[in-house]
Amino acid sequence: MIRQLKAKDLPGVLSVAASSFKEEARRPEVIGPGFIDGITRFPSLQIGAFEGDRLIGFAIGELSEDWGILDWIAVAPSHQRMGIGSELLKQFERTVSLSGKQRVRLGTPFAVNFYAKMGYACVGVQRVLQKVVVGSDQPFDSSFSITLSDLVDMLESFELDSMKCFFSPSCVAVGRRDVGAILATENRWSKDQIDVVFSKYEGSESHFSLLSQLEAKARERGAYLITEKFDESEVAAALGRGWEESRSPLAWTTYYMEKRLRARLRAITKAAEDAANAESARKNPLKPKAVARKPPPKVPSVLPAFTKELKRPARLPLPPGSL
Ligand SMILES: CC(C)(COP(=O)(O)OP(=O)(O)OC[C@H]1O[C@@H](n2cnc3c(N)ncnc32)[C@H](O)[C@@H]1OP(=O)(O)O)[C@@H](O)C(=O)NCCC(=O)NCCS
Repeated sequence: MIRQLKAKDLPGVLSVAASSFKEEARRPEVIGPGFIDGITRFPSLQIGAFEGDRLIGFAIGELSEDWGILDWIAVAPSHQRMGIGSELLKQFERTVSLSGKQRVRLGTPFAVNFYAKMGYACVGVQRVLQKVVVGSDQPFDSSFSITLSDLVDMLESFELDSMKCFFSPSCVAVGRRDVGAILATENRWSKDQIDVVFSKYEGSESHFSLLSQLEAKARERGAYLITEKFDESEVAAALGRGWEESRSPLAWTTYYMEKRLRARLRAITKAAEDAANAESARKNPLKPKAVARKPPPKVPSVLPAFTKELKRPARLPLPPGSL
């Protein structure tokens, strides 16, 4: 049975997430608040599949101004490959359609084939590479110790938000006025990993010289690796300089996928109408009656400001282990 999730289903959601996800959504600290946010703001988009009373799968999402966003979908390992994920996703799409939106978007590190089978197209990829920083003794060049005033001068006003990271005790900042700047932080779950959160530079050479200073600084702090989101244009150069596909369970390449729903919704509605008309014609052959379409359920016409980026989304070839 598939139904809307309620607050009391939270333990079930945590348990399915813990056994199904490889990414950080397996952690209660991530999925718990995400689910609570979801049932508070978009209750109809929190959907569960049940076997008796036991939750065996869920789909959790939200609406942006123009589309539905699937944040997470998971099926308990014992119940995978039985069509449950597909049913959850179809129900999710129907609910998004009924709210008047015509697209669903999502990001996934692993389930590319599942979504492709469900009609989703890959619309982008955020390639995350890692570099192990131990195994080198190149020292940090102190001319790359960037000050707050250098940084303020370097950033455009619309970039200032990224500067908040500078005030975090776990921030690792490197930069020089003539080269650019990188702001990175210790990973939320591991001091061994430093993740770049913002970079500003002109040209690939500047980027890589900033990264090699970051590498040295990360090493000084006792970190094991650094991660960075690379543009496709720089991936080959990065791979040639000792960067590799991220294998950290804390940073995955994300594939952004999208599906347009309009034609599908029309087809669903038409099929339901045809079935109702056929039933009506069977009961009353002389006077077939058109069945009025149900008005869509009410959703707020102005949604709360929603600026959150997709949490996670296929560049081919697919990475090893992707579905
Ligand atoms: C992705 C997931 C939700 C799919 O749920 P499911 O119930 O197993 O999926 P279905 O049975 O409906 O499968 C539909 C199709 O998806 C593809 N698929 C699903 N799981 C697959 C796998 N492990 N490997 C390859 N293809 C897979 C297949 O094409 C499958 O059709 P088929 O069985 O006829 O070949 C489930 O595998 C899961 O929970 N994975 C872990 C969590 C995750 O990665 N979630 C997505 C990121 S948000």
